Amino acid sequence: MEKAQLNYIDDSVIAWLETLDDIIPSLIKEMVTSTKQNRFDLVTNVDKSIQQKFEQFLAQHFPEHQLFAEEKSNVDINARQGHVWIMDPIDGTTNLVKQQEDYCIILGYFVDGEPVLSYIYDYPHRKLYKAIKGYGAYVNGEPILEPEPIDLQEAIISFNSLVINDETIHDLQDGSFGYRCIGSCGLDSIRVIKGQFGAHINTNPKPWDIAAQFLFSSELGLKMTTLDNTALDFAKAGPFIISNPACHEAVLAILNSGKGYKK
Ligand code: IPD
Ligand code: CA
Ligand code: CA
Repeated sequence: MEKAQLNYIDDSVIAWLETLDDIIPSLIKEMVTSTKQNRFDLVTNVDKSIQQKFEQFLAQHFPEHQLFAEEKSNVDINARQGHVWIMDPIDGTTNLVKQQEDYCIILGYFVDGEPVLSYIYDYPHRKLYKAIKGYGAYVNGEPILEPEPIDLQEAIISFNSLVINDETIHDLQDGSFGYRCIGSCGLDSIRVIKGQFGAHINTNPKPWDIAAQFLFSSELGLKMTTLDNTALDFAKAGPFIISNPACHEAVLAILNSGKGYKK
């Protein structure tokens, strides 16, 4: 894709993301929460409205672009073909509902299966992270540098402890410097992207949880793979790690030894 066209799409999406600053406060004021598959699986009017507004934005400005997103059926979409946006309208909905902090909006733009633009908007802290294919990654317009190597014994690592065996959790904690988990796949990944965490593991992400991370990883020399150290399919997702290259293999060796992890 031509740089001018990419810049035009980028400018338009950033302008759309900026409109959220005026919209989200009133949506939160009237927050309505409901459950999906179980009592921990939450969705709110904030998630639904943001997704609906982005769908309207695409229909108006880029009618040939398709939306593959969490709060809709995607059965009619082939994510590998044409212009496709993968969206998590709110990643970290539990944090939104329980703490009104540590949630984000994830957007990944793919052209014929290749990631070309990515955004993670940390709205509560007004930090917009973006990656452009071939042009690096930025936070609020300032370049993000490739993280320094972090060996496992010096690294903070994050994962959802509910889905990893106790023995493996202890091995991960013993092998690393420490454990932290924010509870938003996008924001836990951002910590790795900025060189604060060594790795983030999610044993059951969906395409919208990890759509943006592919481009940040490739632009910043990070590792993003399955837990078997094979290539990840962006359209299917599944167990994944985003990691500083210096501790990737060591984390996977622990995860795949002993009783391993639960899917
Ligand atoms: C969830 C969060 C959470 C992760 C889950 C995701 P949601 O997304 O990213 O940190 O552990 O796997 O489903 O439901 O808040 O969009
Ligand atoms: Ca999510
Ligand atoms: Ca979500």
